Amino acid sequence: MTTPLVKMVSITKRFPGVTANKDIYFELRPGEIHALLGENGAGKSTLMNILTGLYMPDEGDIYIRGTKVKFSSPRGAIESGIGMVHQHFRLVPTFSVAENVIMGSGDHGFFVNMKSVEEKLARFSGEYGINVMPGSKIWQLSVGEQQRVEIVKMLYRGTNIMILDEPTAVLTPQESRELFATLRRMADMGKGIIVISHKIQEVLDNADRITVLRDGRYVDTFSGKDTDSRKLTMAMVDRDISFGQNLADKPKGNFILRLKGLTVLGDRGQKALKSLSLNLCKGEILGIAGVAGNGQKELAEVIAGLREVAAGDIEVRGERFTGKSARAMIDAGISLIPEDRLGTGLVGPLNIMENSILKNYRSGEVASGWFINWKRVREYAHRLVDKFDVKTTGVDAPVRMLSGGNLQKLLLAREITNDPDVIVAVYPVRGLDVGAIEFVRNILLRQRDTGKGILLISEELEELFMLSDRVAVIHEGEIMGILDREDFDLERVGRLMAGEREEGAYERAANR
Ligand SMILES: Nc1ncnc2c1ncn2[C@@H]1O[C@H](COP(=O)(O)OP(=O)(O)OP(=O)(O)O)[C@@H](O)[C@H]1O
Ligand SMILES: [Mg+2]
Repeated sequence: MTTPLVKMVSITKRFPGVTANKDIYFELRPGEIHALLGENGAGKSTLMNILTGLYMPDEGDIYIRGTKVKFSSPRGAIESGIGMVHQHFRLVPTFSVAENVIMGSGDHGFFVNMKSVEEKLARFSGEYGINVMPGSKIWQLSVGEQQRVEIVKMLYRGTNIMILDEPTAVLTPQESRELFATLRRMADMGKGIIVISHKIQEVLDNADRITVLRDGRYVDTFSGKDTDSRKLTMAMVDRDISFGQNLADKPKGNFILRLKGLTVLGDRGQKALKSLSLNLCKGEILGIAGVAGNGQKELAEVIAGLREVAAGDIEVRGERFTGKSARAMIDAGISLIPEDRLGTGLVGPLNIMENSILKNYRSGEVASGWFINWKRVREYAHRLVDKFDVKTTGVDAPVRMLSGGNLQKLLLAREITNDPDVIVAVYPVRGLDVGAIEFVRNILLRQRDTGKGILLISEELEELFMLSDRVAVIHEGEIMGILDREDFDLERVGRLMAGEREEGAYERAANR
């Protein structure tokens, strides 16, 4: 048997108040794609941060190609050929692709031969099918392209142990397939690839082996061929998962939100929404399907008062709300669960208590007049944390210490507890594990059943079909068609997503 590229034995890592890794075993072989699977807070990122030298384990040993190592900094891990693409990319936006690639690679100074860098990038493109434009500036690139730069950066350094932390969370289904094709080619060249993921189907489709962690402990390592989604789910959560049934009738309620011929500009001045009309009723979930980047973000932002209306009107309960501030929209009962949790959603350096009242610090529950009652805030934050099962060491912890999934739970807890009339949810289950997904989906269904209007923006058609009463398909800022629940059809929606408009789509969007 060949020597494993990585062997981690009995790894234990404690943080104040929590044991993030307890006696974990992990092994990576050359030529394999190895998925690391586990619920939010299971300890996946921590284990990989240990492998990349970011953290020192409290106990346990690490062997790289059979030799015991002790990394006291990321430098040592890089020298051992280990590289990681983090959930949040670490590129310099104003630098070019080539400059980012050579940064920190050891090829310093003025004497880097750009020509040879470009030759290398062209070679990667041939060998792995991974294409980047060396001269482009990072800020000009899409998220998928930026991710490719991160991967090329690793290739340039000669990395042969590659770790990707939830790489497909930010990708479209098409981009995800391309990514795995690239990863497969790298594995075929003898590299070892570790992919952290929550998506069981994706893991089953792409991984050779799967290691499952639960509550900071090692559960088991499965061979991709010999396992199935049920076994993996059970290993992850130790119970059976059942999703709430969507049994409600068609929406009966009145329009709560109307968008009439909305035109909105995107960040680069382009028309992100083009005279778009949509109506949301009380007690319905209106799904918005579409490939990311077709106006979804702008749609959510304009409804929340975070983006200007260039033309058209927004009505809430029959009243004109065009051009109102974000505060006015919150007061009108509109709640946004945004895509970037630590950008528009939560404030990283503030603690859980502070974040939990960001939007309702004036309400009677936590304040009297201008005075905030911190004792009540503490109780309130505790209630949110308990009710939504946010895993944390305490409400005094800064939210940037929370794991990805727990951030999302806290955000949802805050938004829903404010009892809004309209919830705009942008990719609400991205980055969540199965247990948390179930939780969030059930919450959305329950909110719908109590008469709220929910605009659910998602890329996962399966999810949209499961939860929505109607699905509207957006393409380049326009609605291509709207389907009622009984007409849901994957192929039809696929055609609409690709830009084939259906007869009468405009009229239907404007009228019901
Ligand atoms: N620097 C830190 N300080 C304190 N606690 C931490 C730190 N990093 C992680 N933790 C805690 O350790 C536990 C494991 O976190 P980790 O980020 O490894 O989980 P994860 O499996 O990556 O979860 P997710 O899927 O949500 O990203 C969590 O309870 C987390 O709050
Ligand atoms: Mg993580």
